Amino acid sequence: MNTLNIVTPLTLLFILFFSSSTASTTVYNVVELGAKSDGKTDSTNAFIEAWTSACNSVGSATIIVPHGQFLVKNVIFDGKDCRNSDITISMEGATLVAPSDYNVMRKSENWIRFGKVKGVSIQGGTLDGRGTSLWDCKLADGKHCPDGTRSLKFSNCEDVKIEGLTSINSQKFHIVIYDSHNVKMHGVTIRASSDSPNTDGIHVESSTDVTINRADIGTGDDCISIGPGTKNLWMENIICGPGHGISIGSLGKRFNEQGVQNVTVKTATFTGTQSGVRIKTWAKPCNGFVKDVLFQDLMMNQVKNPILIDQHYCPHNKGCPTQVSGVKISQVTYSGIRGTSATQVAVKFDCSSKKPCSGIIMENVNLIYQNRPAQSSCSSIDGSAYGVIRPLSCL
Ligand SMILES: *[C@@H]1O[C@H](CO)[C@@H](O)[C@H](O)[C@H]1NC(C)=O
Repeated sequence: MNTLNIVTPLTLLFILFFSSSTASTTVYNVVELGAKSDGKTDSTNAFIEAWTSACNSVGSATIIVPHGQFLVKNVIFDGKDCRNSDITISMEGATLVAPSDYNVMRKSENWIRFGKVKGVSIQGGTLDGRGTSLWDCKLADGKHCPDGTRSLKFSNCEDVKIEGLTSINSQKFHIVIYDSHNVKMHGVTIRASSDSPNTDGIHVESSTDVTINRADIGTGDDCISIGPGTKNLWMENIICGPGHGISIGSLGKRFNEQGVQNVTVKTATFTGTQSGVRIKTWAKPCNGFVKDVLFQDLMMNQVKNPILIDQHYCPHNKGCPTQVSGVKISQVTYSGIRGTSATQVAVKFDCSSKKPCSGIIMENVNLIYQNRPAQSSCSSIDGSAYGVIRPLSCL
């Protein structure tokens, strides 16, 4: 251990010295390009300039955002004409703050968006969406408030790394991965108040090969939500709460929809959340599906609906003439799920009578409600149970 402690900083120093002296990486510092770390001066242009230069440089490029607060308006980091596929944005100790008046970005869907970018990595830093006044507006009357911006969105991107990023108080969803491929998130922290509307932590949709490891998420909506067209999504070491849990869905709002396939949630803790792991589909016709899902090694602390499949979602009973979901759910495994439920029915499988759930497996589930085994309820489902199952399986 001692040797390691001595060697590591020395090695680091050596690497730093070595990399700066060989100049294989071109460095752009946003402060040198006019950004001010006072949190008040609009620094958007310096960020765009840094991005454009990094895109045009040969070899790897690093954009440095030094310690301090930087006010940034809605911005798109566009990769369309980017020649560089190795750009790192290093934000250790830096906070990007959104304009305090939500009307400034009224017409924008996103605050910070990466579009058509291949090979970008974000290291450290904090995004402060300053969403509280918009949430208050929405909670008060809702009619005159803008929809709000998602704090960070990647669309049409490839080979993305997000490491050690913190996102707080987003106006709407915090991080959105859309139409993207090979995205790795590690050590992401997300915080918004438990009554903030639509502040999902991470939303993944139409994307393949996305990994979320070591995320700590507490918001007013889903910690992680998974939309249509998601394939090969891996989530591991997740802490969730407050919030609505991890949710596949809502799916099946439209008739033609891509399915969700090969999703894993492994080693996660849910505390005081509305659901634990949920699959939620609209009660209307749809050709979509959910298959090959594994929920493994999950701890529930006073979770309202630890295990939930809800195929009768239809808010205000509007737009669901048939009241039956067309989304087919199959091959879902719940393994090693334990802890406490905050309601009596800890396991609820409310599947579609038109397309019953099939291949649902439960093994070693132990959920307690007020010191007694909880209850489970099943409809339109086929599957099997192994090992200890409390509440008794209804499969
Ligand atoms: C499922 O996704 C994981 C990554 O999340 C991947 O390693 C694995 O190969 C995928 N399985 C199939 C059958 O595609």
